[in-house]
Amino acid sequence: MKALVLSGGAGTRLRPITHTSAKQLVPVANKPVLFYGLESIAAAGIRDVGIIVAPDTADEIRAAVGDGTRFGLVVTYIPQHAPLGLAHAVLIAREFLGDDDFVMYLGDNFIVGGITDLVEEFRATRPAASILLTKVPDPRAFGVAELDVDGRVARLEEKPGNPRSDLALVGVYLFTPAVHEAVRSIEPSARGELEITDALQWLIDDRRPVTSTVVSGYWKDTGNVADMLEVNRSVLELLTPRNEGTVDAATEIIGRVRIGGGATVRGSRIVGPVIIGAGTVVENSYIGPSTSIAEDCRVTDSEIEYSIVLSGSSLHGVGRVEASLIGRNVQITPAPPIPAAHRLVLGDHSKVQISA
Ligand code: DAU
Repeated sequence: MKALVLSGGAGTRLRPITHTSAKQLVPVANKPVLFYGLESIAAAGIRDVGIIVAPDTADEIRAAVGDGTRFGLVVTYIPQHAPLGLAHAVLIAREFLGDDDFVMYLGDNFIVGGITDLVEEFRATRPAASILLTKVPDPRAFGVAELDVDGRVARLEEKPGNPRSDLALVGVYLFTPAVHEAVRSIEPSARGELEITDALQWLIDDRRPVTSTVVSGYWKDTGNVADMLEVNRSVLELLTPRNEGTVDAATEIIGRVRIGGGATVRGSRIVGPVIIGAGTVVENSYIGPSTSIAEDCRVTDSEIEYSIVLSGSSLHGVGRVEASLIGRNVQITPAPPIPAAHRLVLGDHSKVQISA
């Protein structure tokens, strides 16, 4: 069995971070989202992985993942010249995939608990395709499945205006080589993409077995900032505390906190779960729960919580920052003070409270 990891695409919903960097490399607890997927694939006993890459972000992904050795994988890069759809990715990976079964994994999806059980079940039963579904509050942003009375997948639609169910497709799909005929047979959708949902529908219409598993609390699409922060929060909940840096006596550390090698924390209050990357300096600051600060950052005289800060960035003298995703090499400083004045005409016996 092989894996096909989709790490191309445009990443418009994470702009402006994704103007300069691949969305699959945005870190969760200081580790790129994509790495969690690659680790799950390796843990499921798969070795051969094809990674679909886009022209603008291919170099960055290659630099981060390399030849896959560090994950115990053998990686083949498959360039896709434009984001022409998930089924297009399967089409161009034909040579790499050969006649093997494969798991297709969307590089910006986060699957809590890995995929080992799914892969084992698929290996044992080998339907033409197997998909994962989960209930979501607004299915319009996803592929949506309709099940028949026996719980079989009857119909699939990509981002429908009027969803027929609240069951969204999760970004992990298992296929036998039957999918190759399907991706060759479908036409681009209204948005100009070859949709994997259409390929799955083709298999269903052709009476090939397509099985589904409904899961809960299992999956996150990290396509937007709110989801990214929530995934970061849930991963940090499981953080093993460790201090490889230097923390002075005036600092208070509460809860699960991991401090990387060469990091320095002085005169600060860190309330976990928090991860602080190697080489980062935190001084006279408060770092609150569910925050990941990457390597080589500086946080001085500032307060931040429920946020992700990417490497090389600094916060200096800023009040409370919350629910924020801060890119690489960003500098945040206070606005220059505007002379503030109160002009008052007050009647006799007035009582006025003026905030500073
Ligand atoms: O996250 C689950 C959803 O993923 C499913 O419910 C949908 O049915 C499925 O179409 C997909 O929808 P998205 O709109 O979220 O897909 P997105 O364009 O974000 O692409 C998902 C990943 O695949 C992402 O890592 C980028 C990559 N990709 C995407 C396209 C369109 C490629 O590598 N090549 C592509 O052509």
